[in-house]
Amino acid sequence: MLNIILLGPPGAGKGTQAARLQAARGMVQLSTGDMLREARASGSPIGDKVKAIMDAGELVSDAIVTALIGERLDTCTACGAIFDGFPRTKAQAEALDLLLAERGRQVDHVIELAVDEEALVDRIIGRFTCAKCGTGYHDSFRPTKVKGVCDVCGSTEFKRRPDDNEQTVRTRMAEYRAKTAPILPFYEARGLVRRVDGMAPIEDVAAEIDAILDGTA
Ligand code: AP5
Ligand code: MG
Ligand code: ZN
Repeated sequence: MLNIILLGPPGAGKGTQAARLQAARGMVQLSTGDMLREARASGSPIGDKVKAIMDAGELVSDAIVTALIGERLDTCTACGAIFDGFPRTKAQAEALDLLLAERGRQVDHVIELAVDEEALVDRIIGRFTCAKCGTGYHDSFRPTKVKGVCDVCGSTEFKRRPDDNEQTVRTRMAEYRAKTAPILPFYEARGLVRRVDGMAPIEDVAAEIDAILDGTA
């Protein structure tokens, strides 16, 4: 039962790869970004509190996201976990170690998706998801097979994230450089970091990650 962290700036492909691993390997995707967007959509007090912070592209408090992860960690006790967008600060990394240790688990791999920041702006601006089943697409890199129709569920309604505009993306990238990239040495010291070329096509990135999880890379 592997617990892996996908680390990389906005648009690096964390969500794309996590969703694929969840479907292919029965692991569970734990995305703090998705949890926060759910909280917003449900109109909960947490959702109201984080709305402005997310729309500005800044990080939500460690206490809020750590509590959300803690609530979801036991969704499936027999599945491996894919942490997508968490941890994002040193304090979150330490909190995750504690949460896992309490369950006799540990971080097995930290997969760093190495990408060119300029290319990410195009990825993010072109991104959209199915409003019904949540499948992720991209105007140029991953279009629907039939224009305007979801490949998976046939829905014709799609949505785009309010923080997917160029100005907010720049702030999200700056937050990544300032607060998240500095946690790499914390995991490098434990020999856990594996660097993957996140600029390769989606299927190639997936194959590289598979090789790491299978111990063949
Ligand atoms: P979050 O939802 O985590 O956003 P993010 O980190 O900015 O990352 P994205 O979801 O934008 O990118 P991704 O890496 O998942 O890329 P994707 O696979 O979609 O966080 C949002 C906000 O919530 C934060 O700004 C913060 O406010 C808050 N938050 C969340 N977690 C937090 C935490 N732990 N602490 C504090 N605050 C937190 O891919 C992007 C597009 O590119 C897609 O269209 C995809 O189809 C395409 N694509 C993917 N891979 C490839 C490829 N290899 N080649 C070509 N196209 C590709
Ligand atoms: Mg994502
Ligand atoms: Zn759909």
